[in-house]
Amino acid sequence: MLYTNIKMITALACLACACVAAPASRASKRCGLSTANIDIPSGVGLPAPAYNPTLLGLGVGTQNYTCTSAGTYTNVGALAELFDVSCLYGSPEFQNLPSYVYDFWNQASVSPADLIALGETFDPSFILGEHYFITNPVTGSGLSPKWDFTSHAFAGYPEAFVVGSKIADVPAPTGSSDIDWLTLTNLTGLLANEVYRIDTRGGQPPASCVPGSAEIHVKYTSLYCQVLGGLVLKDDDREWIHTAIY
Ligand SMILES: *[C@@H]1O[C@H](CO)[C@@H](O)[C@H](O)[C@H]1NC(C)=O
Ligand SMILES: *[C@@H]1O[C@H](CO)[C@@H](O)[C@H](O)[C@H]1NC(C)=O
Repeated sequence: MLYTNIKMITALACLACACVAAPASRASKRCGLSTANIDIPSGVGLPAPAYNPTLLGLGVGTQNYTCTSAGTYTNVGALAELFDVSCLYGSPEFQNLPSYVYDFWNQASVSPADLIALGETFDPSFILGEHYFITNPVTGSGLSPKWDFTSHAFAGYPEAFVVGSKIADVPAPTGSSDIDWLTLTNLTGLLANEVYRIDTRGGQPPASCVPGSAEIHVKYTSLYCQVLGGLVLKDDDREWIHTAIY
């Protein structure tokens, strides 16, 4: 137990180092992405993003499911911590990041809530924020995914979140145990116009369940790409985000 936790922490600390290795000022710990592309392999039927990504987050958490009366699992939300991986974009490690971190995460006896608490003990500048679900703010019913960066990366900016509405959903090209790749558009919040969930690992429930059985939490990692965003930040320290608003 202790060993896997230490490995988990080491893996996360490596991510932190990658970011801290970038130049010293606070703002530049988050790297500019003006030349980055969201790499969607040909044959994966997601719409191409109209702009470069403005934020790249590695999501580490669980997908939650309850068992329906039909004996199949249905998704009832998720909870994940999002680590800023923008400084790793273009490095040889970047492509393998979701599977590398997943291998530690899947073995660690650490919950997403533990991870979020643990995040407080690291330099928080490499944490973007949290991903979780809320009641759909437009219709008032059903659940909507939210990426909320008001706790860390954009503390002090109450609109630094996006609540998404799914516009495309395709099976992960990497296999049936990985959750779908998605494109979402913004329902509310100024963080982004679009969110892509790609390069997923894990997160799929078993094919069947016994009706009445307890909710399950299935570990996953994925790359979340936030595209564009209308957030106007006046803090010079965070001016990098302006460059993303064309
Ligand atoms: C999802 O599961 C996590 C535990 O992995 C839990 O902390 C969180 O509250 C759950 N969220 C929902 C919406 O069920
Ligand atoms: C979506 O985001 C853009 C940029 O942040 C914003 O201009 C637009 O009003 C948002 N749409 C909605 C429905 O909030």
